[in-house]
Amino acid sequence: MSEVKFYMSESIPLELHKVRVVQKLNLVPIERRYNAIQEAGFNTFRLGTQDVFLDMLTDSGTNAMSDNQIAAMFQADDAYAGSQSFMRLHKAVEEVLGKKYLLPVHQGRAAENVISKTFIKKGDVVPMNYHFTTALAHILESGAKIEELLFDDALQIQSDNPFKGNIDIQKLVACIEKHGTEKIPFIRMEASTNLIGGQPFSIANLMDVRRIADKYGIMLVLDASLLGENAYLVKQREKEWAENTMADIIKMMTNLADLVYFSARKLSSSRGGGICTNRKDLYHKMEALIPLYEGFLTYGGMSVREIEAMAVGLYETLDETMISQSPTFIKYFVEQLTRLDIPVVTPPGVLGCHIDARAFCSHIPQTEYPAGALAAAFYFISGIRGMERGTISSVRDENGVEILADVELLRLAIPRRVFTLSQINYTIDRLHWLYDNRQLIGGLKFVYEPPVLRFFMGGLEPTSDWLEKLLVKFKKDFGNSL
Ligand code: F0G
Repeated sequence: MSEVKFYMSESIPLELHKVRVVQKLNLVPIERRYNAIQEAGFNTFRLGTQDVFLDMLTDSGTNAMSDNQIAAMFQADDAYAGSQSFMRLHKAVEEVLGKKYLLPVHQGRAAENVISKTFIKKGDVVPMNYHFTTALAHILESGAKIEELLFDDALQIQSDNPFKGNIDIQKLVACIEKHGTEKIPFIRMEASTNLIGGQPFSIANLMDVRRIADKYGIMLVLDASLLGENAYLVKQREKEWAENTMADIIKMMTNLADLVYFSARKLSSSRGGGICTNRKDLYHKMEALIPLYEGFLTYGGMSVREIEAMAVGLYETLDETMISQSPTFIKYFVEQLTRLDIPVVTPPGVLGCHIDARAFCSHIPQTEYPAGALAAAFYFISGIRGMERGTISSVRDENGVEILADVELLRLAIPRRVFTLSQINYTIDRLHWLYDNRQLIGGLKFVYEPPVLRFFMGGLEPTSDWLEKLLVKFKKDFGNSL
């Protein structure tokens, strides 16, 4: 991509879009935030946006939509069956993802439900680069297990490995040999591996995985929710692909998979989701579950307006200017934090900036959820809502014992074209203050723990009066500042 260099200073990310519709934000006083985080059970999912200043919870359904997406929504063709909106989406999937058959679903986890119900049986094992929470929940629900086969260094927080999302091929072969092909319904590859910090895989690695899949006759399933960003980082970091277009890279990746599924809330800056393939046999195996769980085959639980926005959004993932915006801001964010010695996942990934809560709060034991505590403390002192991606997002084993997460991260999502650079600078400033006062943060314990996907609605409380201590220090340093 052509780079914009600055004359007088170091280059900073430059927004290549203009703001045409705005939404007012509220930065409520710290006294309100003190009550809000307690009412939310120290769980940022349970905060209401009236109390949130910068919402960095996720990019899911929060990427800014383009003028063309909004315009397309007005042309939607409302019909239970045979909607022209679906035809347009179908064409976009064929042209952008290179797949002929499309099953629409209401969001990514619905695709995971359909795929798990169709292909997984009790006792199976699903090898993958790394799990995503909802994918894991569906696989466990089907009575199967997963094996995560990243290279050993992929979980190192600070690294210069450009492709931490790669599968270790030797581990993959060993896994297949150990369990036997009849127990392995498919290999799952996740683009821009979410839970380890939005880290991509390389095309060379995906080709190797394909080779193994072919050798053993196993299906390859690609979670393409963050495919655009993975393609962008391939272009940046894998020199064989530096001169290719986004379109070439995306098609190359999807061509290597038998089945591609995605959350359109992420991939196409819209809502909804889909499963697509060029294999008619696979399509037919899943087809009946769509009307059962989602809706008729030409809407899959989505409104036609969303389907139109999704079609346009898919074409827009081919625009490097659009897709690079979030990773470029993340890179800036990560570099500034690194200069301040604040522990953060490197190399910069996609989706957001991932703070290493285990190092940030090294005084908090993992059983007291350092990432959850950091997310709550950071909201409290800044009004910025991030997401815990650590042990709270993990599960308990069959005996009720915590499975401690491999990494404890506070994720600060940077949805596409939503925040300005001064907002990122405010975020860095408040993180800097919190880092200097990190000893004041304490641990959390569950008071309400749902059995499945507990991180969404679970309630916690602090293990000491650390919130009060932070309040006193904030007031001392910032006086009446919000
Ligand atoms: N796969 C990946 C890689 C995801 O990141 C997500 C969602 C899903 C599947 C499920 O899709 O939400 O549409 O049902 N990720 C969101 C996040 C929730 O915040 O990272 P969904």
